[in-house]
Amino acid sequence: MKKHPKLLYTVAQQYADKHVSPSCQHAGECGGCLLQHINYDAQLLIKKDYCNKVLEGIVSIEEVIPSRPLGYRNRMDYVTAFGRMGLRKRGNWRHVVDLEDCLLLQNSSRALFATIRQKLAGIEDYDYHTHRGYLRYIVLREGFNTGQVMVNFVVARHENNCKAIIDAIADRVTSMSLVLNDGLTDLSYGRVIEDIKQGYIEEKLNRICYRITPNSFFQANTHVTQMMYTEIAKHVYGRALDIYCGVGSISLFIANNVETVTGVECNPEAVMIAKENALINAVPNAVFIESDAMNYFSTHSDKFDVIVVDPPRTGLEQKVVQKLLDIHAKRIVYMSCNPVTFASDAGAIMQEYTLQFCKAYDMFPQTQHVELLAVFDRT
Ligand SMILES: C[S@@+](CC[C@H](N)C(=O)[O-])C[C@H]1O[C@@H](n2cnc3c(N)ncnc32)[C@H](O)[C@@H]1O
Repeated sequence: MKKHPKLLYTVAQQYADKHVSPSCQHAGECGGCLLQHINYDAQLLIKKDYCNKVLEGIVSIEEVIPSRPLGYRNRMDYVTAFGRMGLRKRGNWRHVVDLEDCLLLQNSSRALFATIRQKLAGIEDYDYHTHRGYLRYIVLREGFNTGQVMVNFVVARHENNCKAIIDAIADRVTSMSLVLNDGLTDLSYGRVIEDIKQGYIEEKLNRICYRITPNSFFQANTHVTQMMYTEIAKHVYGRALDIYCGVGSISLFIANNVETVTGVECNPEAVMIAKENALINAVPNAVFIESDAMNYFSTHSDKFDVIVVDPPRTGLEQKVVQKLLDIHAKRIVYMSCNPVTFASDAGAIMQEYTLQFCKAYDMFPQTQHVELLAVFDRT
């Protein structure tokens, strides 16, 4: 696989005349936003240039489809350590930037962030160097289309010591949970040990209502996700396979456009939520299978017209690509959060398929990330 670790920053240097004064007082120090000092239109050009360098010889990207530049995130995970609440310092994981505000958050969560910050004093935080302490993370999630807000307290002990915050915000949130992570791994996930309020929020994309629980994955930018899923729905038909389906977000969104859709996902909790979401939305033609992708291909021989893949940043395993080719589906729809691994996978897929188009979306403004959506048809 070709590696381009610094390529985006090299490209960004060519846009020195597009520098602006960042909206956030923490820009430059905070590891959350790496491009805030660059005008948003120029950020889109940088990402376009970057994609075109990485995808050279495969496809040319005409534009990067924009998002709202700030206030776009439906989820943020703030670390609580060393008397601070915020994000890791840019380039230095050992330090936390104490954020007074975070402009990436949607509005209701941003107001909650301010209240939570004021109530933190007196609650023991967690030193992730020595692994001592209590409160590790505060996770804020907000349904962009429903306005429902979730707050998760990720704690290292089976205790509820967050009463000061809970009392201050209880009437403004739909869901509140205590999540236990008593391991050494620095994760903002864990076992839900108490639902202080409800234990889930809902988000809506078109007619589908998604139930989101504390540990479930949902794409972080609802607006761009809706655009991408809408594009995917235009290119599916017949029998569809949705590999790496998460909580079934794509499967359920496209269910109306296909005869059947089979979602495959290795995370058991995500599969459970996918099944629940199918029931809640009365989607009769979606089935979900808990399986590793490779294991699924080794144990099933079903035929599909269209295969949708949305793998993690590492892309597709080589043997998974081979299995995809062996199915002889008429079309492969590939959603990618990493142009580098996409480029390598596309090269392999194009041995037997023709790339019809590839679009780039700015799922994460102010950051170095860019999302791709491509359609390949069997040659
Ligand atoms: C980028 S997320 C996509 C989720 C979903 N398509 C969506 O839009 O919300 C990738 C998903 O792949 C799952 N995954 C990772 N490795 C896997 C594997 N080897 N087999 C099956 N699923 C896998 C992860 O658990 C995660 O839910």
